[in-house]
Amino acid sequence: MDTNPVATEEEIDLAPTEEILNNLPDNSRGHLIPTLNKVQNAYRFLPDPAMELLMEFFNVSRAEIYGVISFYPQMMIVEPGKYIIKLCYGTACFVKGADIIGDKIHEKYHIKPGETDDGKLFTLQTASCLGNCGAAPMAIIGEDTHGTIDPEKAIDILAEYKIEDEETPVTEEVG
Ligand code: FES
Repeated sequence: MDTNPVATEEEIDLAPTEEILNNLPDNSRGHLIPTLNKVQNAYRFLPDPAMELLMEFFNVSRAEIYGVISFYPQMMIVEPGKYIIKLCYGTACFVKGADIIGDKIHEKYHIKPGETDDGKLFTLQTASCLGNCGAAPMAIIGEDTHGTIDPEKAIDILAEYKIEDEETPVTEEVG
């Protein structure tokens, strides 16, 4: 959305990262993970130029910081699609065919968990439980929760987001 401070990975506005770092009381490593979360919230992912600022600030190496990031599946190092699909792979959803839904999404959009489609519309993630097992299989797409889905329904729902996206006028905001 328009609140995203980055347009592309090449044009990173580092001001949000600088503000986050300026508001920290000190550079102790205990602040590293909360800071990564704040940076991710600001950009929707963790841009490498921002990570370089964190490396310098916390005095950590590239290997260390990316080691931490790799430990947390919700932390993304590439810009996600406009909509993040969180497909529940918890037990209740799995026994009701969540993996078949995942296969169908892969068939249609060529994305596996952790991947983004070529149009940068959808990023697929899996979740362990979305807290509404009675409505299994569950998925959250963008801000919306969808329950008792099946492969066909999932594809129909994604098609609606695609149509909505196509109907949304593109506003180029530079600077
Ligand atoms: S296992 Fe999917 S909502 Fe709980």
